[in-house]
Amino acid sequence: MENLVSMKDLSVEQITAILEQAKAFREGATSSLKNKYTMSNLFFEPSTRTKMSFEVAERKLGLTVIPFESGFSSTLKGETLYDTVKVLEAIGIDALVVRHEQNNFFEELVGKTKVAIINGGDGTGNHPTQSLLDIFTIWEEFGTVENKTITIVGDIAHSRVAKSNADALSRLGAKVQFVCPPEWQGEFNCVHDFDEVIESSDVVMLLRVQHERHEVSGIFSKEDYHQTYGLTVERERKMKDGAIIMHPAPFNRDVEIASELVECDRSRIFKQMENGVYVRMAITEMILKGRE
Ligand code: CP
Repeated sequence: MENLVSMKDLSVEQITAILEQAKAFREGATSSLKNKYTMSNLFFEPSTRTKMSFEVAERKLGLTVIPFESGFSSTLKGETLYDTVKVLEAIGIDALVVRHEQNNFFEELVGKTKVAIINGGDGTGNHPTQSLLDIFTIWEEFGTVENKTITIVGDIAHSRVAKSNADALSRLGAKVQFVCPPEWQGEFNCVHDFDEVIESSDVVMLLRVQHERHEVSGIFSKEDYHQTYGLTVERERKMKDGAIIMHPAPFNRDVEIASELVECDRSRIFKQMENGVYVRMAITEMILKGRE
């Protein structure tokens, strides 16, 4: 694997190899990449989890990490993403994690630069590393993803997480279903009554309401959304024994999820973030080893 821009890049066998390697890293395995490669993380949209956990992952692998701040870069003078990447290639960067507001930004890079490209999120398109850490979290919890019922709830149309997970989880044999308001269902078939599916779900995966991507705002008040599509305390009580709550975060407390459920026994929200480091170590190592 030379790049990771979409979950479609990965076979089931490659996904499984990443899960196994992430588990090995969590159990203390070390990498042979120490001091061999230089990476940088180019984030043109805000991020806390993806940017910081990639940086931790790169440092744990022993890589050299060169800081990049988009707000102080020559992109503000009009330099394009392509030209920025060519600059970084010229000065010796081996791999880049890139988050950009433009869907499919990677199409102008892959095959045109020697730098490996890892997609840290493209607009409303893909978020493959989030999908892999979500899959890892489910796999660790249940020992398998196959035959698990995963209910993804919320702003499906604007969610790159929903799109990456829908593809990958289905290929791994999970039953994936969506709950959302009709206005936010995009290309997906969605159930509009959360209460119809809450009791049968092994995983309830909540999504952030992405106000910044809405052309029409104010369809719901926060309270209305919470009562209709949020995980309220009453709905959590209907979840079956052993079922878990996930959210890629950042979460809006008392909108997608009742504030008191964020750290409840069923919640794996912070576990997802912890797992993200090991999964991103495994992805980065797989890509860089592919260059050797
Ligand atoms: N889940 C996620 O992508 O979070 P950040 O936007 O903070 O990276």
